[in-house]
Amino acid sequence: MVHFYYQNSKLWVEEVALQRICEEVGTPVYVYSQRTLQENYRMLEEAFEEIPHAICYALKANANLQILRLLADLGAGADAASVGELQLAIRAGIKPEKIVFGGVGKRDDEITFALKKGVRTLNVESEQELQVINQIATKLGKQAPVNLRVNPDIDSNTHPYIATGLKDNKFGIDSSQAVTVAKLARSLPGIDLQGLHCHIGSQIVETSPFVKAIQSLLKLYSDLRKEKINLKMINIGGGLGVDYHQVIEEPLPPQEIGNVTPPISAAEFASSLLPLLKQFPCEIILEPGRFVTANAGALITQVLYTKQTPNKKFVIVDTGMNDLLRPSLYYAYHRIVPLSKREPVNWQKVDVVGPICESGDFLAKDRWLPEVQRGDYLAVLSAGAYGYAMASNYNGRLRAPEVLVNGNQFRIIRQRETIEQLLVK
Ligand code: LLP
Repeated sequence: MVHFYYQNSKLWVEEVALQRICEEVGTPVYVYSQRTLQENYRMLEEAFEEIPHAICYALKANANLQILRLLADLGAGADAASVGELQLAIRAGIKPEKIVFGGVGKRDDEITFALKKGVRTLNVESEQELQVINQIATKLGKQAPVNLRVNPDIDSNTHPYIATGLKDNKFGIDSSQAVTVAKLARSLPGIDLQGLHCHIGSQIVETSPFVKAIQSLLKLYSDLRKEKINLKMINIGGGLGVDYHQVIEEPLPPQEIGNVTPPISAAEFASSLLPLLKQFPCEIILEPGRFVTANAGALITQVLYTKQTPNKKFVIVDTGMNDLLRPSLYYAYHRIVPLSKREPVNWQKVDVVGPICESGDFLAKDRWLPEVQRGDYLAVLSAGAYGYAMASNYNGRLRAPEVLVNGNQFRIIRQRETIEQLLVK
């Protein structure tokens, strides 16, 4: 359940009125609900409790240290994609033996760091990378625990920029080459081949691509068995999509109703995969990112201006693509709702745009919103994943602060950047 809701026409998160945060912290501001985060994590845990599994939260979605600490307390491991993320996970109290290290372009120093720390596995994406890891591990007098990331050539029906399991994508080792690379891995003294890994994309809203990916891993698993290669773990990656439309229990604008199919739930995801996953006699690793954090966060912004042109109405707000890049980069939909509702609602079709000097700087295009005025606050929902994580200083803008709400309390878990910080960069 998502703990953003209306009470007496005001938007609340848990037991805090969002307006209070705006008045005390200013806007733009990222606000997260601790309860939603914890519930999302537990939902996945419970959905897979029938099988031996580990959840390695993908830091790339949101790597705020306080959020990582909350997840660490729930027992989460981590999926890190750089030495920076490895250090963040460790700093948050996640033990290296619960961290998997992935990424298609690991530098030598990153591999060295991961091996010295003793991470659980390195997810290897090419034969050359395997050779490099072997050399570095041998030099360190270690055996590197590795999983081979396989590219199964499966269409995950998502935005092309976040589809990763097609043969044209840069990721993984083509399924047809996997047995050869696995045999090579077995022969290298610095490599301890532990398992297979597969991540076919992100924001996947149906079960069939996952089912196909796991079927392809099962086939590979049995092919490897014939070669007397027995694996200890199967990592099925992340990718489970979330509902960006019906995020809160507030009816969608009448013009939008019926246009979207909701994504599968964690329970549906698990029940379609469990019969297949049970066929692997080993531990299953999951690397969810978005599912844990997306709907636990909102980006709150204030309306600076409204502008009616002969063609369009623009709502110009104090946040933009520097804070939330997803609409510009993927044309992603984020639900936008006012912090204060006015009755009766006067629906207007608007573009919600930011202050950045690009026409690509928008949060919503041709969106039906209740009429807004200068000074109103708006919440851009489902911004907890790939929001702050992809923020920048573009146009000399300061990154927004992050606030964590827990019950009737809230605290700043990352301060707003200052002009002084900008000037020393
Ligand atoms: N594991 C690997 C190897 C990944 O590459 C990713 C995401 C995940 C796990 C976590 O996937 P998730 O459960 O969050 O779908 N910036 C894009 C998303 C890029 C995802 C990159 N990889 C967005 O804003 O939609």
